[in-house]
Amino acid sequence: MQSRRIGDVTVGAIGLGGMPMSIEGRPDEERSIRTIHAALDAGITLIDTADAYHVGADEVGHNESLIARALATYGGDTSSVLVATKGGHLRPGDGSWTVNGSPDYLRQACEASLKRLGVEAIGLYQYHRPDPQVDYADAIGALRDLLDAGKIRMAGISNADPGQIRQAQEILGGRLVSVQNQFSPAFLSSEPELRLCDELGIAFLPWSPLGGISKAAELGGHADRFAAVAERHGVSPQRVCLAWHLDKSPVVVPIPGASRPETIRDSAEASELKLTADDLAELGI
Ligand SMILES: NC(=O)c1ccc[n+]([C@@H]2O[C@H](COP(=O)([O-])OP(=O)(O)OC[C@H]3O[C@@H](n4cnc5c(N)ncnc54)[C@H](OP(=O)(O)O)[C@@H]3O)[C@@H](O)[C@H]2O)c1
Repeated sequence: MQSRRIGDVTVGAIGLGGMPMSIEGRPDEERSIRTIHAALDAGITLIDTADAYHVGADEVGHNESLIARALATYGGDTSSVLVATKGGHLRPGDGSWTVNGSPDYLRQACEASLKRLGVEAIGLYQYHRPDPQVDYADAIGALRDLLDAGKIRMAGISNADPGQIRQAQEILGGRLVSVQNQFSPAFLSSEPELRLCDELGIAFLPWSPLGGISKAAELGGHADRFAAVAERHGVSPQRVCLAWHLDKSPVVVPIPGASRPETIRDSAEASELKLTADDLAELGI
């Protein structure tokens, strides 16, 4: 697989998003483990997760624990796998999502993630979503302290605007390595953040790169644009979509979600698909 950089770490150009294996509609654990193992077999070395990927209030960190078990039971070498988790988002168990960006909470959440992942330092820790009740500088200050304490190896942010990216980069003393924002053919409004990451050399991780769990089959309503290009290359429209992401900038590392081995195997192949100028013109986005 083609590779890309996140901070000082080289990762496969396509990552795996863990969310569909832990929220509503998730498969049984056996299928999830097979999915994660299929991703590793395909050369994927970035796995994106979060403590908030769970359903019930009593199973916080479901996805982190699942990933830790999948890595422990994988037959091959996992030393180059970067697990990127997040803190600051919560699921109280009624289906909703809430936020808590207070430094005390983020410190506790990080400790709990460290235990679930069974590591001494988290590879990449991302502030999940800004909390309007907490000064952004305070939340990012907590990430800086976690970096300085060696609890996390690298720091990233998610759902951030350009001002927050610049602010986080300053507070972290130039150590911001990634920004994870929603970005797909159906959701292009993070283009300014993507461009800023490209300018600053920060990895940009598009979330819901295929349009989201319930809309990935028809690429968020944009499948028609991708169908002809996909047919010409003899590949799936989703693979074309991920190749389109990769073509945007060398800092882009898409993290398609998966709950089946077949889908992540297909997505991983996007790394080898080079779209032509005609393809890109036909896509028109
Ligand atoms: N930072 C944030 O606030 C935030 C928010 C949302 C998501 N995320 C992260 O971003 C990741 C990706 O987003 P997402 O999971 O919401 O949406 P997505 O990646 O756009 O879509 C996921 C769905 O796409 C299907 N899929 C994947 N590859 C495919 C292929 N090659 N062909 C056909 N279908 C394919 C999967 O189906 P199967 O289930 O059948 O395999 C999966 O359910 C998440 O898993 C999570 O890690 C972050």
